[in-house]
Amino acid sequence: MIPVIYIPGDSGALALGADKVAKAIQAELKARGKEARIVRNGSRGAYFLEPMVEVQTEKGRIAYGPVKPSDVKSMFDAGLLTGGYHKRWLGAPDKIPFFAKQTRLTFARCGVIDPLSLDAYRMNGGLSGLKKAVAMTPADIVKTVTDSGLRGRGGAGFPTGIKWKTVLDTAGDRKYIVCNADEGDSATFADRMIMEGDPFVLIEGMAIAGIATGATKGFVYIRSEYPHAVDKMRRAVEVARQGGVLGATVLGSPNAFDIEIRVGAGAYVCGEETSLLNSLEGKRGVVRAKPPLPAIQGLFGRPTVINNVISLASVPIIMDKGPAFYKDFGMGRSRGTIPIQIAGNVKHGGLFETAFGLTLGEIVDDIGGGTATGRPVKAVQVGGPLGAYFPRALFDTPFDYEAFAGKDGLIGHAGITVFDDTADMLKQARFAMEFCAIESCGKCTPCRIGSTRGVETIDRISAGIEPQKNIELVTDLCNTMKFGSLCALGGFTPYPVMSAINHFPEDFRPHAVAEAAE
Ligand SMILES: Cc1cc2nc3c(=O)[nH]c(=O)nc-3n(C[C@H](O)[C@H](O)[C@H](O)COP(=O)(O)O)c2cc1C
Ligand code: SF4
Repeated sequence: MIPVIYIPGDSGALALGADKVAKAIQAELKARGKEARIVRNGSRGAYFLEPMVEVQTEKGRIAYGPVKPSDVKSMFDAGLLTGGYHKRWLGAPDKIPFFAKQTRLTFARCGVIDPLSLDAYRMNGGLSGLKKAVAMTPADIVKTVTDSGLRGRGGAGFPTGIKWKTVLDTAGDRKYIVCNADEGDSATFADRMIMEGDPFVLIEGMAIAGIATGATKGFVYIRSEYPHAVDKMRRAVEVARQGGVLGATVLGSPNAFDIEIRVGAGAYVCGEETSLLNSLEGKRGVVRAKPPLPAIQGLFGRPTVINNVISLASVPIIMDKGPAFYKDFGMGRSRGTIPIQIAGNVKHGGLFETAFGLTLGEIVDDIGGGTATGRPVKAVQVGGPLGAYFPRALFDTPFDYEAFAGKDGLIGHAGITVFDDTADMLKQARFAMEFCAIESCGKCTPCRIGSTRGVETIDRISAGIEPQKNIELVTDLCNTMKFGSLCALGGFTPYPVMSAINHFPEDFRPHAVAEAAE
């Protein structure tokens, strides 16, 4: 048996030197006259262990990491090809605590298989959901998704089944499935990991959505900063066409469905669904007023499902194992699992898929291992640039849509950014306003003008000019933005700003005054 060595080709692992490690392994094989099959898999998501190399042995897979090119020679000396012990030896990947504690449903194959091998996908449970879907009525597929309790993972948490039902029930000469892979939130990389590590699960999810709603064409809108994901998705679509998964007869059924990959132009607001539709149509990425909902009048005026990558990639397992299986995980109205992306100043950064319900403290302290600097955690921003900053006092909040909303926060796309006690929350509040000013599409006044006035007012607080009066002014401005903005860019920027003011008032003492007092 030729040994198989897995070296991630995921862009996070590449950034950490995976290609150099691959070259060193190939050179060492050649020098030693040994043979091995090298598979460039995705990442399993423990970025603190990347590049994580795995070798298939008779007793199962053995992982090593983080591997440097300079480790390779001694790894071979230690018997890499048979899983021999070395200082980078991590043992069986499933037993590594970061993975052992997870519930991997959507990410079950990510980092495990060759992302472009349809056979490997099939052998590891892939296409079972689609096989069931082609034998069902569209209404039954929609009911299955509705009953699973799946809610959109892009940020708004809208029930996926209800969205699909609206498209199914709306007449149209053409309908579309649009996958939102713009993934603009800070600290998020779940969509990228799926597209690079298990692209067929997304393709399968989109095909199921097409059959469920009567759509025959799908688009994946991927941010331009993800060239590796674009390449993987393009190649995977081609393989899926060759394999009869896409095309005129999906898995030999009478259903037609095909997918086109499109690349965004680099605007955060193009992740907002209506702006994304404009961009897909070749127009400027400006937000459209709703109604009409995209489900009624979406891409090119046709009924359109727009879903996030993770929402769509979660559908195959729901179809395969049934709605009750999926719904059994989670808490309250947050059902199933959620891939939490832990980033920022944190020791164990990476993707952690788990049922809803872990507390923020468990995620940051136990799983994340606290800060990378070793200093105390001061704040955690949950939900991307529009999410609130949570202080330690709120670390008992369970990861659940309603629990976070109840604490004036949001889960968003489940990215969390950790900050240590050197973070200046006034600067973070200013950054939120500045981000909104830069990224605003300009359609409505509270966001376009309000964000710029917000930056100026926070600068006045910082300079010690009538601080109390200006804090009140920012609060008033945030209320106007929250209730008067057309979309969540202007509407949610108040979350990071107000949470910084409310939870960290000491940072809003004028800097000039604070410095004088010291
Ligand atoms: C400013 C802004 C940016 C957004 N960016 C994204 C994004 O990058 N990816 C995403 O899936 N949803 C994003 N959304 C949410 C989408 O508008 C939409 O709710 C989502 O694509 C629907 O899919 P889902 O129901 O599967 O979550 C954004 C929303 C706003 C207001
Ligand atoms: S809130 Fe901002 S981004 Fe959204 S529509 Fe208004 S101007 Fe555009």
